[in-house]
Amino acid sequence: MNILRGSRVKKSSSKANRFTSSIEFDAPIARHVIKINLAHVLSLLRSGEVGTETAAPCLGFFLRLPEVMKLDKETEDIHHMIEQEAIRKIGIEKAGQINLGKSRNDQVVTAIRMEARERLLQLSEALISLQKALKLASQKSGDLVIPGYTHLQHAQPVTLSFHLQSYFDGFERDFSRLTEAYSRLNLSPMGAAALAGTSVPVNRRYVASLLAFDGLVKNAMDAVSSRDFAVELVSCAEMIMIGMSRLAEEIILWSSSEFGFVEVSDLHAATSSIMPQKKNPVVAEMIRAKCGSVLGHLSATCSILKALPNSYNLDLQEVTPHLWGALSDAADSAELMAEMLSSMLFREDSINSALEDDKSTATELANHLVRRHHLPFRHAHAVVGELVRDSLKKGSTFISIVVEELPAVSAKVTGKAIRIDWSEAECILDPKRALGMIKSEGGANPRLIRYRASENNRRLAKHEAWLDKRRARLQRGDWLLKKEIRDVLKGVRN
Ligand code: ARG
Repeated sequence: MNILRGSRVKKSSSKANRFTSSIEFDAPIARHVIKINLAHVLSLLRSGEVGTETAAPCLGFFLRLPEVMKLDKETEDIHHMIEQEAIRKIGIEKAGQINLGKSRNDQVVTAIRMEARERLLQLSEALISLQKALKLASQKSGDLVIPGYTHLQHAQPVTLSFHLQSYFDGFERDFSRLTEAYSRLNLSPMGAAALAGTSVPVNRRYVASLLAFDGLVKNAMDAVSSRDFAVELVSCAEMIMIGMSRLAEEIILWSSSEFGFVEVSDLHAATSSIMPQKKNPVVAEMIRAKCGSVLGHLSATCSILKALPNSYNLDLQEVTPHLWGALSDAADSAELMAEMLSSMLFREDSINSALEDDKSTATELANHLVRRHHLPFRHAHAVVGELVRDSLKKGSTFISIVVEELPAVSAKVTGKAIRIDWSEAECILDPKRALGMIKSEGGANPRLIRYRASENNRRLAKHEAWLDKRRARLQRGDWLLKKEIRDVLKGVRN
């Protein structure tokens, strides 16, 4: 008889076993399951529910278990596998108490939260690297002007630094979302047992502190059945992926011969097996694709959860691999995106030629007509629009058309002939000057951008401090757990 199946059900079909088992993807939680068992046994001992003659061999068993275990494909999951092994090693008299006052339901979600918090911190670290890479690339680019686009058409000039900082700011919000998600994630479900709590005197707060949680998921039913933390983390991962996918798309577009604005390092490129001239930005392409995969994980997670009746249902097991998939895709992508940005070359010559006579300072000319010649903006817009159209029709540069045709066009639109000479037109249409004229907060004026850059340095330092603090807290939990075990075992030996 399989003792863990109890007496209620007989042997299940091996096909059904394999279909319902989570053992194939339980590896990431194995080391947490060991810690949870240690903390639980300590709690049973401290409350006097089991004596040291039971607790000591149980603790010894869990301490001897390797963190990386060979997974027995025949078992339902890691929780069963470990309990079975404990019974085999130290006998049912002692090991049979391990699950007193705890269930796989509270244990699994506790272990998932423990693994998820580490992965969240890893993702935060990758995000910091990405923000640092954006900051450095932005610093390196100085005041280099590039075309700014809307609808993928030249709109107004901006600096490369401004463009990169816009991504920095998006990732900044993602970072703050991760820190908020962490505070909701790092709460202990242990002690919820199957769904209703337990009459066994387990000390939930004691267990939570040994496992480095910051508090409890209070309601026992909520503790075992909720996976909104998974939805939240996968959503955070997806939002980070969306930011990176947009950046990846630009890198791909900008490395085409049509743009030629950037060249990714060979480290992040591949060639074609037939066309020897090809340099393909494959890492950027994969990041763009992973954004779709993570969206798949999000959609799967939400679809599995919707309409589940309270409380634990085995459906919840199906969510776990999606959580790992999303978090590792996002962390890997952020690390690679950071590497790629740090080694990428921006081609000033191609960028400058894209700006030549691109008419992207037309808005500044319209503003000038308003400010200096008191035209209503709508009239100025119409005048400049007509000049642009003429320039394209005649194949003449915009500046020559402005100088030659502004008097006639402005007279036609407003009844007033306005004249601008060549040197004044040159000045108005100069992209650098146009950027320097921007006064609104958060605008593309290089002076404002430099100010934002120093703010960003402060932000990054804060993020690093946040991360260090969380990691130190997790280490302290490990230390506390070890110390408790040492103290207990010392008592046994004395
Ligand atoms: N393997 C399950 C999971 O990953 C935990 C076991 C809960 N099973 C049960 N019959 N209550 O969620």
